[in-house]
Amino acid sequence: MKIEVSAPGKLVLLGEHAVVYNRPCLVSAVSKRLRLKMEKIKRKLFQIERSDKKGFVKTALKNFSDKYGLDFGVKIKTQNGFSLQYGLGSSAAVTVSVLKGLAELAKIKMDKRELFNLAYQTVLDVQGVGSGFDVAAAIYGGTIYFKTAGKVIKKITDFNLPIVVGYSGIKADTPTLVRRLAKEKRKHPQIIGKIFTEIEGLVKEGKEALLKKDWPKLGKLMDTNQKLLENLGVSTEKLQRMIGEARKAGAIGAKLSGAGGGDCMIALVDEKDRTDVEKATRKAGGEIVKLNFSAEGVKLE
Ligand code: PMV
Repeated sequence: MKIEVSAPGKLVLLGEHAVVYNRPCLVSAVSKRLRLKMEKIKRKLFQIERSDKKGFVKTALKNFSDKYGLDFGVKIKTQNGFSLQYGLGSSAAVTVSVLKGLAELAKIKMDKRELFNLAYQTVLDVQGVGSGFDVAAAIYGGTIYFKTAGKVIKKITDFNLPIVVGYSGIKADTPTLVRRLAKEKRKHPQIIGKIFTEIEGLVKEGKEALLKKDWPKLGKLMDTNQKLLENLGVSTEKLQRMIGEARKAGAIGAKLSGAGGGDCMIALVDEKDRTDVEKATRKAGGEIVKLNFSAEGVKLE
């Protein structure tokens, strides 16, 4: 038996970092998908071909087997739908895809919440830190209001968003940045805590703005969120330059997405300004990543 599974990547509209500390974020699944081919084999053997995510695949296999048992082997091959590039969440997408595929091959019914719990556990086993928002985006798809460890996972919209995505050319090291902020937070609990609470306020307002498609409001919130991320010390010169140029070219609001230290910028635009904003982003050294927002969650192809 052979199957193919795919899961979307993600970008964070508002709320990164604060979401690690019992606060919400807004995350959207994007149309760049990770694809995985899985084949059931008789021998209890796991063959993983050409994967840059072996740690996640192996741990997902182990966690699935511990929970449900496995009386067959599998051959797994990841496709280059998107690789590690761009920081779109390939670790979560690969983990979710493997678990979804195993459930299908083993004919086990796993609902979205069970899949989330097992996938989130797997990511924590491998990486040690993380809120789980990327796992939720890979499973549920759409644009999600998410709270730490999946305490709340609420799909709020299914429509595409008018956003230009620019890759800064530098791969962010998420676990290192999360640990660095944890250290900062221990040193300055009040200051960092206050910033996180401000971010929480932005996310809540952002949810309403998004539902009403109030782009000027959402743009403003993105700008404020970026300022707060700068205060947390996770932005970079390159990202700042891209954000500055995008705004000058007409972006309604712009910020980094994810842990910072690199990866992508997202700039909310009026469609009539998209080309200008893309040009300006390129001029600042960014690479435009063409994709749609609110993509479909994990599925069998
Ligand atoms: O770097 P990314 O795109 O995986 O995003 C990390 C977001 C953090 O809030 C910093 C960490 C997390 O797991 O929520």
